[in-house]
Amino acid sequence: MALFIYKTKFTGKSLIHLQQIDSTNTYAKELLAKTTPKNGTVILADEQLNGRGQGTNIWKSEARKNITASIIYFPDKLLAINHFMLNMKVALAVVATLKQYLNNQLIQIKWPNDIYVDEKKIAGILIENTISGQFITKSVIGIGLNVNQTHFLDLTLATSMQIVEKTSFDLNTVLQTLLVHIENWYMSDYSKPELQKKYEFNLYLKNITHSFMYKESIINGKIIGVNEHGQLLIETTNGIEAFNQREISFGLSR
Ligand code: BTN
Repeated sequence: MALFIYKTKFTGKSLIHLQQIDSTNTYAKELLAKTTPKNGTVILADEQLNGRGQGTNIWKSEARKNITASIIYFPDKLLAINHFMLNMKVALAVVATLKQYLNNQLIQIKWPNDIYVDEKKIAGILIENTISGQFITKSVIGIGLNVNQTHFLDLTLATSMQIVEKTSFDLNTVLQTLLVHIENWYMSDYSKPELQKKYEFNLYLKNITHSFMYKESIINGKIIGVNEHGQLLIETTNGIEAFNQREISFGLSR
């Protein structure tokens, strides 16, 4: 069935719908290397054979059950030092999408951009940027959203919209909603502090004392927010410390 994205202004108007691919992000980057796709081009896969996550992680998603898609944007004057603004916008867009479908659920962002419901991951975001001079000129925004998958290798770590709501969802409808939210957030002109405030409002474990793994040791502290570089701010007995991605993990239980 042909898919048309009809609810956005430009996102997904050019849509590449693939039955099977290694990774939509990799496909998008290869496309960018050889052509100039339209701003807002969406690559959607029914099945990913080698879905990629943050760092060296893999993203496993059952065929035809979930959304695995990448969006190509050409940001207008987005300074590379402000790259976290894009992360915040996309994470907030996924939260807004889920709020539309999940009733009475706390939907949170686990820093930097995992989306959590009920202490479990429901969506992941992988943004890959091309920088030219001071600016991000091309951005591939990959999103994996668990919609109708009900079996995961570890059900204590992952969840889906169907598990949470006990009903299945039409993938096309959820995709339309997701793309509208992403486009609206992407086009929004919130300042960095405004975005930080909205992002922090939805931050998982904020203000809750918890143990974190830092290098080989365990530190106790509470997340108080993020700074303007997108580093995680944790208040410990030594005061407030800023951590980079992959420098800190949420301990054995998270
Ligand atoms: C993470 O949680 O570490 C990020 C997961 C991102 C998964 C999506 S699925 C669509 C796009 N293509 C990929 O290979 N990865 C992203």
